[in-house]
Amino acid sequence: MNLSPIDTAKFVAAKRAVDFVESGMRVGLGTGSTAAWMVRCLGEMVREDGLRIKGVPTSSRTAELARSVGIDVVSLDEAKWLDLTIDGADEVDPDLNLIKGGGGALLQEKIVATASDRMIVITDASKRVETLGLFPLPVEVVPFGWQTTKALIEETISGLDVLGDRVSLRLNGEAPYVTDEGNFIVDLHLQRISNVRQLGLVLNQIPGVVENGLFVDICDVVVVGYGDGRVEVDDINAGTHEEDRIEFVESDNIFSDITD
Ligand code: 5RP
Repeated sequence: MNLSPIDTAKFVAAKRAVDFVESGMRVGLGTGSTAAWMVRCLGEMVREDGLRIKGVPTSSRTAELARSVGIDVVSLDEAKWLDLTIDGADEVDPDLNLIKGGGGALLQEKIVATASDRMIVITDASKRVETLGLFPLPVEVVPFGWQTTKALIEETISGLDVLGDRVSLRLNGEAPYVTDEGNFIVDLHLQRISNVRQLGLVLNQIPGVVENGLFVDICDVVVVGYGDGRVEVDDINAGTHEEDRIEFVESDNIFSDITD
């Protein structure tokens, strides 16, 4: 099969990121199509290279995939603290602040990333932005009184320096989308977020809000993949920027179970 440029970009970012994983590590496993590549790469390393890791998935989807590729899956409570989390993102700004939750897993993703010594984000170049906000910001809310919570969110953002103010309930067909934790998600169409730290804090003060998809000061490294196999690695703590190229053959093992 031939990978599309976007899938190649996601794959090479994932392939480069798994170089950070060493035997004996406890690794947070992100959710989404880019993170799925990373899980497949780790599975191949477990099966073929004898890599020994414990994986903590951030969604039921990732747990299922991780088990199917041979990763030893444990809960966060079993692992307690993680060496590393690798996950995708919907937007990444120059300070490596993120919008996450496009795939609906932001709550577990944020808990797992925060419980990790290091978070590595893997992405294609389209997710790199100067200012966060064009991608709708997901906010997880409890189903009880969700319309009141949504109204409170609308009132809160009307007083902040953002460009848009529309808030929509995420749907799965006709019904509300329900997260792994049994909650709903509202998406905030803000266009531009001037102060990510302030927005993240005020949203979480609203009763009924469980968590928001702004990841501020959590990500340490971003690996950006391109459709021609190039990757860029930016480490915010070390202040380094590396460029590399991933050579790969579309071997049967890793490309055979693609469903995303
Ligand atoms: C899921 C997420 C994903 O990491 C994010 O939506 C990116 O997904 P993809 O790699 O499929 O573009 O936050 O909640």
